Amino acid sequence: MGKFRAGSKYAGRNAEEGSAATPLLLSLTLVVLVVSVVYIFLSGKWSPPAPITTVGEAVDHQYQLTLVVTGVVFILSQLGLAWAIFRYRDHGQRANYTHGNNTLELLWTTATAILFIGLGLMGYRAWGEVRFTEAAPDAIQIEATENQFVFNFRYPGPDGKFGRLDPKLISASTGNPLGLDPSDPAGKDDIVVPTLTVPVNREVELLIRSQDVIHNFFVRELRLQQDAVPGLIVPLHFTANRTGRYEIVCTQLCGLGHYRMRSFLDVVSDADYRNFLKQQEQQLQSAGQ
Ligand code: CUA
Repeated sequence: MGKFRAGSKYAGRNAEEGSAATPLLLSLTLVVLVVSVVYIFLSGKWSPPAPITTVGEAVDHQYQLTLVVTGVVFILSQLGLAWAIFRYRDHGQRANYTHGNNTLELLWTTATAILFIGLGLMGYRAWGEVRFTEAAPDAIQIEATENQFVFNFRYPGPDGKFGRLDPKLISASTGNPLGLDPSDPAGKDDIVVPTLTVPVNREVELLIRSQDVIHNFFVRELRLQQDAVPGLIVPLHFTANRTGRYEIVCTQLCGLGHYRMRSFLDVVSDADYRNFLKQQEQQLQSAGQ
């Protein structure tokens, strides 16, 4: 690195050599950003409400693990970047070329791959449990049908059987939003309601359907989010372990009324659940007379 000849474009550079203000400002900005992000996550101000299923706890655990692993990588890489910006700032020296370090490249690519695939495989278990394992034989089956822009839940009634549906009979305005076929005796006692009521600590199997476009069934406290796809019946099972009222929302942009497409999940005691069914059955009987 010899001296620059007078008259070359490098001449006169010495005046601003080693100015630390700009790199220092950039490094400090990065540090402030890292600290703010860490604070936002650690403060817990924006964390979701507590889960009400054991699967929800497993999902949270997996999420925390992913967050810690990626968080540590994020903090180290951003602080490393801040350090490099300051450490290798302009001292008036000539820039030199480096073609990188193959060993390091290999090392962090492998480490990233192992972390990424490992976390993915671990998460698959929590995610897959509600979808790829069968619900218990005594699980309560409830059908959830979505259309623009409402939810309808159907209980099979005392006979335990869902009646036949006929798309041609769908008529929300006459009180048959699902198209129940009146000629099928199995459907006579089917209960259709706009909110979902389930007993606490009992396994529920939802059969999720859509009548028109793709919608979604999402309850934060269940940590469950599942698309409702026309032409498919998607099973999903859960056991809620805390009574209360929770919001059900559609999280697929499904049309102009999407923003108001929601319902409620009521997790109630066994006695309240039996009362709910009895009331609905009585209403059906009085309507049928
Ligand atoms: Cu249905 Cu958004």
